[in-house]
Amino acid sequence: MVTLKYFSVLLFIALANTEDEFHPKPNNVDPALEITNIKPIHKTIEGHNLYWTEHAQRYIEDQLKLTKNTNKAKNVIMFLGDGMSISTVAATRMYLGGEELSLSFEKFPHYGLVKPYCVDRQVPDSACTATAFLGGAKNNYRGIGVTANVSSSQCNYSDEDVVHSIVKWAQDEGKATGVVTTTRITHATPASAYAHSPHRDWENNAVISSACRNDPNSQIKDIAHQLVYNEEAKKLRVIMGGGTRHMLNNTMQNDEGRYGERTDGRNLIEEWLEERNKEGKAVYISHKQQLDELDVDKTDFLLGLFEHDHCMYRLDVLNNGLQNQEPLLTLMTETAIKMLQKEENGFFLLVEGGRIDHAHHSNYARKSLDETAEFSRAIELAKLMTSDEDTLIVVTSDHSHVFTYSGYPYRHDDVLKTTGYTADDDLRFETLSYANGPGYNRTYANEGNRSDIINDDFTHVSRRYSAMVPLSSETHGGEDIAVYGSGPWSHLFQGSYEQSDIPLVMAYAAKIGPYAERVETTTPCTGSDCDSANGVFVTFALLIISLIVVYFT
Ligand SMILES: *[C@@H]1O[C@H](CO)[C@@H](O)[C@H](O)[C@H]1NC(C)=O
Ligand SMILES: *[C@@H]1O[C@H](CO)[C@@H](O)[C@H](O)[C@H]1NC(C)=O
Ligand SMILES: *[C@@H]1O[C@H](CO)[C@@H](O)[C@H](O)[C@H]1NC(C)=O
Ligand SMILES: *[C@@H]1O[C@H](CO)[C@@H](O)[C@H](O)[C@H]1NC(C)=O
Ligand SMILES: *[C@@H]1O[C@H](CO)[C@@H](O)[C@H](O)[C@H]1NC(C)=O
Ligand SMILES: [Zn+2]
Repeated sequence: MVTLKYFSVLLFIALANTEDEFHPKPNNVDPALEITNIKPIHKTIEGHNLYWTEHAQRYIEDQLKLTKNTNKAKNVIMFLGDGMSISTVAATRMYLGGEELSLSFEKFPHYGLVKPYCVDRQVPDSACTATAFLGGAKNNYRGIGVTANVSSSQCNYSDEDVVHSIVKWAQDEGKATGVVTTTRITHATPASAYAHSPHRDWENNAVISSACRNDPNSQIKDIAHQLVYNEEAKKLRVIMGGGTRHMLNNTMQNDEGRYGERTDGRNLIEEWLEERNKEGKAVYISHKQQLDELDVDKTDFLLGLFEHDHCMYRLDVLNNGLQNQEPLLTLMTETAIKMLQKEENGFFLLVEGGRIDHAHHSNYARKSLDETAEFSRAIELAKLMTSDEDTLIVVTSDHSHVFTYSGYPYRHDDVLKTTGYTADDDLRFETLSYANGPGYNRTYANEGNRSDIINDDFTHVSRRYSAMVPLSSETHGGEDIAVYGSGPWSHLFQGSYEQSDIPLVMAYAAKIGPYAERVETTTPCTGSDCDSANGVFVTFALLIISLIVVYFT
């Protein structure tokens, strides 16, 4: 009874205090999807040994309840947080409200760690990693869907060097497929789902003509062209993101008046419509309102390109009042799932939170955490729209960043401010900082002394956080990144393994690709038997209700 009382005090605080200026509620997201802001837990609660013991007991009970879900995964959704390092995930807990909080995917029952190195580099990029986690083969830095035998300066490759992605494996078994991203649709991660290119930058014909000018016989097509004409791209039922720039000739404008960069006279958006309309009803959209009004039942193929380049950072969308023009990742994810759920054979969907990475490259810590928070909400939504019985959800990242969460800030301090005390040069320092990047000028500001940040505006969305080594773009990090799984066969994701093992595990679960012929030997689970992850949520919800009752009686 005593501990129950402590819990109810905790909950009372949590419920009474749901918002503050540093963690504003996004005004255009369904409140049902908001992650609960767990607010300061009073020392009187955490000072009791029993509080922690009870926490451990609950954890152990939840672990004991975990079952191996060996159902066939009818659907697979892969969520890729580009550059979402473990320190990024941890700092985002603070951004959303507190150390105790868990992002949606941290409640998944199974975790593992992968080694993200590429064949030719210790610290990888998004191209070679995407070929690993989508195609099941490591290759070279900058390589998209080709083996490590192909160098990034090579203007040809043989058929044997093609690495097909899980998108094709799923299509070969009659599943619907889709790709959603907040980057350009021809950027490294989404491109690896449907294209093959020795170099990730060959996004339009002009770039290839220049790179391969000494190889006039080169047959390689640019990535945007491949989005319309490649075998696997042709079958994509949903494509959403940014990037009209590589789809249009440089004399053609998108609906915002921005010119394309092609020089071959093509309008690949119109060609996409023409090609897909031969197979069904194809719809092209470029504005959030069109997405809101989309008739999913009457659309067979959807192409949504909402920007000339990458989609805007969510914080810039909100700050510029563009929430009625630019769809956020949650809305794109919701529509994609609705489109793909029409296929009775199931589906494979790739969703990329692509700008977590870009914000880190600019040392924009706040934007990176905010993009991670939106990514987490998209996953929460996907979880609500699907069932553990038949849907495997895998959440991972491609690589880390040189982003650290450090110093000894007090509990509940704003993670985006300083540690609260001075360094050996008598100046304050940030809790979040970088080993390199454009934020370096804070480090060498006054003839080699650091700048004084005490009066900085830490609420500025594009504040660059301090970096040590001067680089115009911060670099990726080489250490392991996490894989979180929920649904059929997600227990196979535990341990430490190669990044290229990930798609094979997904293929095993879904019986596609190399595992299309796998024979099932286990008993299927049904309904709540399969819900190992949701067990935790349900127990907690029941606990809350009973505690509130206990507190007031
Ligand atoms: C690619 O081109 C080079 C030089 O032009 C040639 O030596 C090589 O055999 C070609 N490779 C393939 C796979 O066609
Ligand atoms: C890749 O290169 C190695 C070494 O030259 C060779 O043994 C192998 O057959 C090549 N693989 C392909 C797919 O060309
Ligand atoms: C495409 O762009 C090129 C290069 O600017 C230009 O010469 C050509 O006329 C354009 N073609 C079309 C169809 O607009
Ligand atoms: C660092 O460089 C940026 C961009 O050039 C500039 O706006 C900023 O004031 C500089 N900061 C310091 C501390 O020198
Ligand atoms: C740099 O720091 C040193 C030691 O604190 C101080 O003596 C010096 O005046 C500072 N220089 C500048 C330009 O701020
Ligand atoms: Zn990057």
